[in-house]
Amino acid sequence: MSRRPLIERYRDRLPVNKATPVVSLLEGSTPLIPLAGPPEARAWGVRLFAKYEGLNPTASFKDRGMTLAVSKAVEAGAQAVAAASTGNTSASAAAYAARAGIRAIVVLPAGYVALGKLAQTLVHGARIIQIEGNFDDALGIVRELTERYPVALVNSINPYRIEGQKTIAFEVVDDLGDAPEYHALPVGNAGNITAHWKGYRELHHDGKIARLPRMLGFQAEGAAPIVRGAPVERPETVATAIRIGHPASWKGALAARDESGGAIEAVSDDEILAAWRYLAQSEGLFVEPASAAALAGVWRWLREGRIEPESRVVLTLTGHGLKDPGTAEREVRLDPPVAANLEAVAAAAGLV
Ligand code: F0G
Repeated sequence: MSRRPLIERYRDRLPVNKATPVVSLLEGSTPLIPLAGPPEARAWGVRLFAKYEGLNPTASFKDRGMTLAVSKAVEAGAQAVAAASTGNTSASAAAYAARAGIRAIVVLPAGYVALGKLAQTLVHGARIIQIEGNFDDALGIVRELTERYPVALVNSINPYRIEGQKTIAFEVVDDLGDAPEYHALPVGNAGNITAHWKGYRELHHDGKIARLPRMLGFQAEGAAPIVRGAPVERPETVATAIRIGHPASWKGALAARDESGGAIEAVSDDEILAAWRYLAQSEGLFVEPASAAALAGVWRWLREGRIEPESRVVLTLTGHGLKDPGTAEREVRLDPPVAANLEAVAAAAGLV
């Protein structure tokens, strides 16, 4: 399907009116890619689908929420938007603010934002303030900043962000014709699982889908406050996008889990990296580590026989792998150069 503004595609289901200026980069309408799946999936007859959100304009799902949040901010007369971010929200806020001709101010945890995301945010012209603290500290500061100064908050505690992001569920249903049995995704600040669930619930309420999926959320072991039932003061994980110890939408995540009969569990960095490698090397999908957490979790469920046989599982692959070249450099070996001749190259290629 050719792309059009997300707000136009789902106008009747979003809080916009004729006066809302649509700030769009033709986000959404991302492909739902059938996966070959690991052997465990094939053994159970389970079909996996990847909702490849890395194909959004700034290469993550954040653009769905940002088109609406920035459009509504402009409608309200805002001259500037602000966000705390682990990197993707800031890249998206910066791009949509540039599109709208307003300022973006972003507060980032110094040293923990993947290089591609930092580059995007910088090049789009946002004002970047790095703090000596983590995402949770940054969000606390941005909340106060936007209360005190005339700046619109565009983190997912802004309800327009959730409204925009719920469209992932709409698109999955458009493509599958119904809800899948399971929908798995990584959980950080927990806005996205809240948004997915809202989208499915709305369709179910209106009789557009016969069933609701079980929502499976996965946090990184070193940043798993919802799994542990208590905030994590010093979250740590290779998946820097979800390096969050005190999720703002905690309650929304619990509701999605409990109302759907789903689960929120932790996956280790090793499991995340194994799934990340599998997606790249066996499915041709390069995602950032946080995105691979969804498959890491589902893979474990498959191994343990916890996924209903013959069911469909949608994985939201939240961000593109090019965002995080640092992880690629660390995790995948690059051989040193060889002599510039045929023999050396053929030998190095394992052809002789
Ligand atoms: N995957 C990626 C690639 C993300 O960037 C995020 C969140 C998540 C998953 C988790 O989504 O927070 O709604 O539970 N990134 C935010 C940011 C925190 O600042 O870019 P969530």
